[in-house]
Amino acid sequence: MARGKKASSLDLPLPATLPVALDGSKRDCIINAIRDAITKRLLPADSQLPSSRTLADRWQVSRGTVEAAFDRLFSEGYIVRVHGSGTRVSPAIPDTFRASRATDQAAPEAVAEKKDIQEGKTLAVHDQYAVRPGVPFIARLPAPELLDGSHWEKHSTNAVKSEATADLNATPLQGIDSLRQQIANYLGAFRGLSCRAEDVFITSGIRHSIDALARLILKAGSKAAVEDPGYLPARHIFELAGATVLDVPIDEKGMKVDELAQHHDVSLVYVTPAHQSPVGVTMSVDRRRKLLEWSHENEAWIIEDDYDGEFSYQTAPLPALKSDDKYDRVIYCSSFNKTVFTGLRVGFMVLPAALQPKMLALWQIVGAPISATTQRAITSFMAGGDYSNHLHRSRLAYQQRRDALLRELDRHAGGKFEVIGAHAGFHFVVRIAPGTDEQELVKEAAAVGITLTSLRPFCHTADVGSGFVIGYAALTLPQAKYFGRKLSQLLDRMTQPMVSDSV
Ligand SMILES: Cc1ncc(COP(=O)(O)O)c(C=O)c1O
Repeated sequence: MARGKKASSLDLPLPATLPVALDGSKRDCIINAIRDAITKRLLPADSQLPSSRTLADRWQVSRGTVEAAFDRLFSEGYIVRVHGSGTRVSPAIPDTFRASRATDQAAPEAVAEKKDIQEGKTLAVHDQYAVRPGVPFIARLPAPELLDGSHWEKHSTNAVKSEATADLNATPLQGIDSLRQQIANYLGAFRGLSCRAEDVFITSGIRHSIDALARLILKAGSKAAVEDPGYLPARHIFELAGATVLDVPIDEKGMKVDELAQHHDVSLVYVTPAHQSPVGVTMSVDRRRKLLEWSHENEAWIIEDDYDGEFSYQTAPLPALKSDDKYDRVIYCSSFNKTVFTGLRVGFMVLPAALQPKMLALWQIVGAPISATTQRAITSFMAGGDYSNHLHRSRLAYQQRRDALLRELDRHAGGKFEVIGAHAGFHFVVRIAPGTDEQELVKEAAAVGITLTSLRPFCHTADVGSGFVIGYAALTLPQAKYFGRKLSQLLDRMTQPMVSDSV
């Protein structure tokens, strides 16, 4: 389509049951027909719908009936209505509703064993696209509509234009200098972390950083410690590298570092100090200090996964763990995939001096991972201030979504749940009273379009009781409200009052 031209909507076929529907059920008939067309992808994401006047005329119903149907579809998040540009299918909804109907319960992450991968077996478990925008409540990722497309286009164009022919065949292994400098400036200003561009390595994301580190640091029989419950891909990466994984429990202060005290043979510890994944607690200052001391005494490396540290709602976040790292034992990992959009596939790590030559040697073997053009686009995005504006806008939007959701939960199910980790990130955890039939709750939730992810699969040996990970960042505000109400009704009906205790 030529730029600036708006596609006109075509007719929508007459719903088969509409001509015979009684007056009182015509609205529901229209809602079902349009919702069905959206979930079956007959109406593509972001496509223009006819106006209520046109539809009323073509379907021979009153305009008020069509308006009432549109209002309901809007409140459910299937359509968006913008003054002056009419009614459109929501950009994020159609696929996701299909997914949430198809899945009873989201498996948290893919589970892979080296043997399975080497034998070419299909990866166990699950649809890699299960965590996606618009699906209540697994939408724990950046909301794609918050990125200003024209900004991104401008920076991508800048990237291509600024490429000197001489640069085309010469991407520095560690990443281009200008991006690494931007990242170093950003970390100093926003995460309290002082580093040089030389310390920064560009990767395709946090998992890629962890994988590279595992190759560098671990060998068969090494020991790697992880939080339990924790981020499963980190555990699997360490297992793929041949390591034995040590589970370290968490409480409301983060990893119980004292439990590491008797372990002197751990090579690597993986933590999520800003917003523990998945429980959401922040590691306390005393635990941070203890962990740093322990790693120094035991010559262990610490991977700090700062996957959502930018999004802190109540107060400014604590500085990164790495900012206090006087022994240079912490590898800080973060990612634009969590701040811009998941498909961008660019992240970075800040490496201790002792690991830098080894990582460069590894990069020399496996090759530079990210195209220079993409790196230039991000450099341009950061340099002009658009990136920090985007972060600011996103933080406000996520906070609004979180607040709306929490309000709905409180309004209808107050006392029936406890929230942990809502101060930051893309998700929080809702704990419910022991004895609730989780499976039944998950099933009933699926029947109203909600995918619930239990905390249990994130636990290896730990037991943190009954609860769910509630991802909200990539829901629209109407979706957060609508599905918040639905969930609260389920909690009210199916759970006992909550008696609070610690994690
Ligand atoms: C704790 C944690 N770390 C890392 C990631 C993935 O980051 P990336 O896509 O940059 O590999 C996720 C994704 O949800 C996450 O939850």
